[in-house]
Amino acid sequence: MHKITHNLGFMKNILAHLKTNFTVTKPDFIDLMVLLFVIGFGWLVVDLWNKPHDIITIATMLAVIYFMIRTIYERVFNRTNIPTLETPSVLIREMAKMLKADFNQKQATAYHVVDFGSGDGQLTRKIARTLPQADVLGIENAKLPYTQSLFFKKLFGIKNARYQQSDFFDYDCRTVDAVVMYLSVQISQKLGEKLYRELKPGALVISNEFELKGQWPKPETVQRHTPFKNTLYIYRKAVT
Ligand SMILES: C[S@@+](CC[C@H](N)C(=O)[O-])C[C@H]1O[C@@H](n2cnc3c(N)ncnc32)[C@H](O)[C@@H]1O
Repeated sequence: MHKITHNLGFMKNILAHLKTNFTVTKPDFIDLMVLLFVIGFGWLVVDLWNKPHDIITIATMLAVIYFMIRTIYERVFNRTNIPTLETPSVLIREMAKMLKADFNQKQATAYHVVDFGSGDGQLTRKIARTLPQADVLGIENAKLPYTQSLFFKKLFGIKNARYQQSDFFDYDCRTVDAVVMYLSVQISQKLGEKLYRELKPGALVISNEFELKGQWPKPETVQRHTPFKNTLYIYRKAVT
């Protein structure tokens, strides 16, 4: 009897967890597209599995499985409404160069950089390598990319990068010297207002693709072909 009540309590906890963490909404057009992609990926995996297992077939099969899992993850489990895309490497190099110039110009002894929505940490790793003097923080809300960033930090032995899993809207930006971000139109606008309120004078903000809102002055821009045309928007909090 005790065992049954215990098990019922356990089931109740699981149901309560599912209820708070998963809201089932009516499927939309994107869900349909995702489903078609997943079926396509699945079909490709079966097809590859039936071929002779040489190194190319196995590598392709693993890549397809990775994209299949990633597609399911982004649609079903990533609750941030922003896909875990990476800033293209050309722009990553540009951003790291700008931060280095900012650090040199400020002649600071400490330099605190934050990536708002750090994904799997690729951008933070490049910044941390380019600027070993800096303390680089990646804030990421979604579990999978956050875990990946911890794994890569360990794998590559990067000492001056650290990560936290949280909502960046809760982060107090007063000690931050520079911000990098690659988000969305709405989130960048909303975050822009927070950054303007909290950042110290002289702080630098580099946003890939999306402009900020708030009292920010007109940004400088840098454009690169990646191969699509990408724009970096560069802002500096006025020194009053
Ligand atoms: C497009 S990725 C950018 C990754 C990386 N910064 C780069 O440029 O390569 C944006 C990331 O922001 C995360 N994100 C979105 N809203 C967030 C929030 N409120 N707090 C923390 N992370 C968030 C998403 O989960 C996603 O991984």
